[in-house]
Amino acid sequence: SGNVTFDPGFANTAACTSSITYIDGDKGILRYRGYPIEQLAEQSTFLETAYLVIYGELPTAAQLADFEDRIRRKTMIDEAMRNLFHSFPRRSHPMPVLAAGIIALSTFSGDSLGDSPAAIEKATDRLIAKVPTLAAFGYKNSRGEPTLYPDNSLSYIQNFERMSFGYPTEPYHFEPQITRALEVLLILHADHEQNCSTSTVRLVGSSGANIYASVAAGVNALSGPLHGGANQAVLEMLEQIKASGISVKEYIQQVKDRKAGIKLMGFGHRIYKNYDPRASIIKKHADEVLKLKEGRRDLLEIAQELEQTALADDYFTERKLYPNVDFYSGLIYEAMGFPKEMFTVLFAIGRLPGWIAQWREMRSNPKNKIGRPRQIYVGNPERAFVPIDERR
Ligand code: CMC
Repeated sequence: SGNVTFDPGFANTAACTSSITYIDGDKGILRYRGYPIEQLAEQSTFLETAYLVIYGELPTAAQLADFEDRIRRKTMIDEAMRNLFHSFPRRSHPMPVLAAGIIALSTFSGDSLGDSPAAIEKATDRLIAKVPTLAAFGYKNSRGEPTLYPDNSLSYIQNFERMSFGYPTEPYHFEPQITRALEVLLILHADHEQNCSTSTVRLVGSSGANIYASVAAGVNALSGPLHGGANQAVLEMLEQIKASGISVKEYIQQVKDRKAGIKLMGFGHRIYKNYDPRASIIKKHADEVLKLKEGRRDLLEIAQELEQTALADDYFTERKLYPNVDFYSGLIYEAMGFPKEMFTVLFAIGRLPGWIAQWREMRSNPKNKIGRPRQIYVGNPERAFVPIDERR
């Protein structure tokens, strides 16, 4: 009908213009607002990168101090929301709990729900400030441990670390290298143009839905194993290889034989047809963190062997399948002490500035239209209703 084009998975359809993130998938280039990911990972902080992604420019010292202060003063969540966490079953997966927490935030939103620039600024600050608190509360609650209030004397990353691993009765000891590795990982996840979750945020927001509803939808999209959920799936794959005692070569053969539809998780990408630049940076940190922490060196070795075996195999090279951001990140998170169910939550904390920036970019575009893909109908032609006693 009309001039509808068929494009499964939107592989060739641009649904928007954007000035936020540039990717050259053949060359393995990723830039936020023009700045190479390697330089940001090396020199920036997560909040500075968040500012860059959302506002388009690196902040001056005064702008950054103001932004950090605004965020710091909004890290607490309404006390009534703590009851929300207690109502989930023990060991609930923290991803749906995070999504629920974010949509619940919209009911405690005060004056941050409207479309005015002031409301959007406030919602932006609230989300960046409160999502780590929600994430840590969900995590603590899943373990039956007491939740910790944010400590506003700490940095953004330290605060999250302490809320995740600390106990109210004990002082928390930070290891600067671990804090920095977490910061770098979050910087690497801050945006990635029109991936599945970001497109979801835009699609939901295109109807006029508020930013909390849109971001909660993004969290749900991210949870799938082909997207952010891959970081958990990679660790499960490594554990399974280890437990089953099969060799890496045998596992790769099963992937190639498409046995039971298994894939090499953490490999392949719709856009990158070369090494994912984020994976190169993460790989270096994986080695460093695992030297420092009692991590799963046995699983790191399996991962490294999987990578070497795959990259020497025609199946993978012909299809241009390389490690993506999720291949090594889980091993670092694991070494830091996070259980694998938290990995995708960490991805969500990292991706939050990107979702917010993309939502704002869309909503500030006067030409924004509601997202509404077309279809090719392949069902029955018209037929007459059959009364129930005549059906066979
Ligand atoms: N293992 C084995 N074969 C694969 C893999 C893999 N991980 N990825 C792609 N292929 C094959 C696929 O079977 C297909 O082969 P053929 O043409 O013979 O049918 C070919 O490579 C092209 O793959 P595709 O599925 O058409 O590619 P896509 O762009 O639709 O999918 C992907 C991209 C990331 C969903 C896919 O590579 C995949 O499922 N990877 C594993 C999951 C994963 O690691 N996801 C994380 C993505 S990175 C960031 C993020 O979003 O978290």
